[in-house]
Amino acid sequence: MEKKLILAIESSCDETSAAVIENGNKILSNIVASQIKSHMRFGGVVPEIASRHHVEQVTQIIEEAMETAEVDYEDLAAVAVTQGPGLVGALLIGVNAAKALAYAHHLPLIAVNHMAGHIYANQLVEPMKFPLLALVVSGGHTELVYMEEDGSFEIVGETRDDAAGEAYDKVGRVLGLTYPGGKKIDEMAHKGQDVYGFPRAMLKEDNYDFSFSGLKSAFINKVHNAEQKGEQLDPEDLAASFQASVVEVLVTKTVQAAKEHPIKQLLLAGGVAANKGLREALKETMAKELPDVELVIPPLSLCGDNAAMIGAAAFSALDKQEFAALDLNAKPGLLL
Ligand code: KG4
Ligand code: ZN
Repeated sequence: MEKKLILAIESSCDETSAAVIENGNKILSNIVASQIKSHMRFGGVVPEIASRHHVEQVTQIIEEAMETAEVDYEDLAAVAVTQGPGLVGALLIGVNAAKALAYAHHLPLIAVNHMAGHIYANQLVEPMKFPLLALVVSGGHTELVYMEEDGSFEIVGETRDDAAGEAYDKVGRVLGLTYPGGKKIDEMAHKGQDVYGFPRAMLKEDNYDFSFSGLKSAFINKVHNAEQKGEQLDPEDLAASFQASVVEVLVTKTVQAAKEHPIKQLLLAGGVAANKGLREALKETMAKELPDVELVIPPLSLCGDNAAMIGAAAFSALDKQEFAALDLNAKPGLLL
């Protein structure tokens, strides 16, 4: 098969990233510049700061991706970019860089949905086999997506309030952790015990939707009440109790949805897919309850935001010649 190379750009939030991907499944380069340190002291991502960093970094990151892959622009089949969802100012930097390169080098332009990107990160690990179900858990989204075939997305369940990553980060703030707290809570959880028995929301309801705001409130109330009474709570037990609730709800609902759809694969995707507790519990439960369904979990480097996943998701659009016009605009609220 002829090698088709895509240069992909991602700038939807606080990572500036560029990658060169061969045939949608092989990484030739994947450069990720994280801005986390600049946002940490504000306790969250500051959109204006994110945009400024993207402007400063994007050209250099693209050059680095091209150099690492050892390719020239004439070797490329297309330029792909995240169109949304994300922060509008941040998205615009990537979109404009991609448009300029597509125009200058006479290359087709491909617009990619960031959430599709998270799902297609799995294509860089294992060929995707349809129909499949993907649990996408990130800082902004928590969705169960059924894909009957390449490029078709049906949301079968989603969060009614906070995203899983958002709940992790908010609870992290209560524990005095720096932003984003998800990874640190995961590490703490492994040293503690689920002694507080926080609620498992919506487990008994007959749908695949999630809710994490009740859990977040229960956690905050527990900490505040203890403070008022001068009681000492163990932060590692708090982290373990919080994580046990999130993981149980995510795994139970996902496995239930997997049983009720005719799938060949179950994919895990998004920043929270890096969570050790979630990875382990999903592996264990799937092996026990659905051993014939292949479970694919991306390596940690492909869970958080990166351009490689955008290049992977762009490949089917290249195949079908679904190209964007040069007046492409960022869409902060883009749906799957
Ligand atoms: O996908 P992502 O990089 O950005 C978005 O598209 O939102 O996800 C970032 C989210 C943050 O909320 C972060 O705290 C969370 O992923 N996260 C984790 C872990 N690593 C990152 N949450 C729980 N456990 C982790 N190990
Ligand atoms: Zn993301």
